[in-house]
Amino acid sequence: MPLITNAVKGMQDILPGESEKWRYIEQSLTDNAALFGYQEFRTPVLEHTELFSRSVGGDTDVVQKEMYTFDDKGGRSVTLRPEGTAGVVRAFLEHGLQNQPLPLKTCYLTSCYRYERPQAGRLREFHQFGVELFGPASYTADAEVIALADFLLRKLGMENLTLEINSIGCPHCRPVFHQTLRDYFEGQIEGLCNTCADRLTRNPMRVLDCKCPSCQTIAKKAPSTLDSLCEPCRDHFNGVKDCMTAAGIAFTVNPFIVRGLDYYTRTVFEFISADLGAQATVCGGGRYDGLTEELGGQPLPALGFAMGLERILMIMEKQGVAFPPQKRCDVYIATLGEGAMREAARLCGELRTEGFSAESELMGRSLKAQMKYANKIGARFTLVMGDNELAQGRAPFKNMSDGTEQTVDFRNSLLETVYEVCLNNAWDDLENAAEGMKHER
Ligand code: HAM
Repeated sequence: MPLITNAVKGMQDILPGESEKWRYIEQSLTDNAALFGYQEFRTPVLEHTELFSRSVGGDTDVVQKEMYTFDDKGGRSVTLRPEGTAGVVRAFLEHGLQNQPLPLKTCYLTSCYRYERPQAGRLREFHQFGVELFGPASYTADAEVIALADFLLRKLGMENLTLEINSIGCPHCRPVFHQTLRDYFEGQIEGLCNTCADRLTRNPMRVLDCKCPSCQTIAKKAPSTLDSLCEPCRDHFNGVKDCMTAAGIAFTVNPFIVRGLDYYTRTVFEFISADLGAQATVCGGGRYDGLTEELGGQPLPALGFAMGLERILMIMEKQGVAFPPQKRCDVYIATLGEGAMREAARLCGELRTEGFSAESELMGRSLKAQMKYANKIGARFTLVMGDNELAQGRAPFKNMSDGTEQTVDFRNSLLETVYEVCLNNAWDDLENAAEGMKHER
């Protein structure tokens, strides 16, 4: 019978073999962000739709075309989060965290949902690691946040990433830039897509990141935000650049980076990889000093970034970055007969308590089939036990890598034997268990 259905288009399963890589990446990101003082936030996958239309912006592609929005059973419009920032800022305000000592440093791992056309590196369900920093207005904070992104990406062993930065001004100088842009685009309005022609009066910066090829061609020659910055914004941007240079972080200024979300002010940045194909941005972020107020809170400067985990994994695999070895089965106990099966379950329990991974037969297969399975799961050792062995309390214990075998008194010295072989072999993933046992003795 054919399967009744498959995974939803643009959404992917993460299976064993891959999931270990995910766990490694997620652990590395959260552990290394903790070195900068970032603590994890977890917010719901569903938010009220107005949160995103107000923060991400009603004129953005994300809100206009890509959100998974529906009415819940109570008739409220809710949306699967298309990004992480809005929910974190809402939670920050809702829990009154602006009254805590600032700066407040948050990080998060989230799934996000955007109804985009799927392609390599672009999914409808994807995952982000992000940070949001609440409180500081100074350009030194921008430089530290960019340095954090750079640090995290390097710690994962990725190479050849380029950092592009820009400033898109503030509410004082933005109207000047909007007018300059409008004047430019109005001269070529027939080349713009309908969405852009429509949003040109309200939000001309959105044309700059429209995915439509004809808009992109016109946008390439558009005026630069940098020429419209007010003096405080220019000073801020110069401060960021000076800090980055002093920290030895290479960057280029790209006046075409405006980001696809409306909440940004002043500094914006992206890390780009040549190993990603068309979807080249692995990390993007910037400052959003007006967002807390836009969402009904007190004005508070804030900034952050998010990186796409699927894209990080793509780069690491393309660049052949090594992942830690997968945890293997240490001891597989093959059994014949119910008594042996029960004893095997008990022995597995003892081994696991000491930190070793242990499995025993659950399928009632032949010994030959069990040994084949032990090989397949990469078991380091096997203990083979039938009625005779059970009666005698002794069974053959085999090293699967070199085929050597010894007989062990499994009731009294199985743990001892496993511990000994661990000490004799420098296996990374067994060290903890062996060390733990050494301490206890
Ligand atoms: P964003 O640029 O929309 O920014 O997304 C951040 C990252 O998520 C991208 O650089 C990319 O790696 C990944 N990403 C985005 N869309 C997709 C997709 N469809 N499939 C796979 N990966 C994707 C934000 O979301 C902001 N909230 C970042 C931020 C945090 N700004 C300040 N704080």
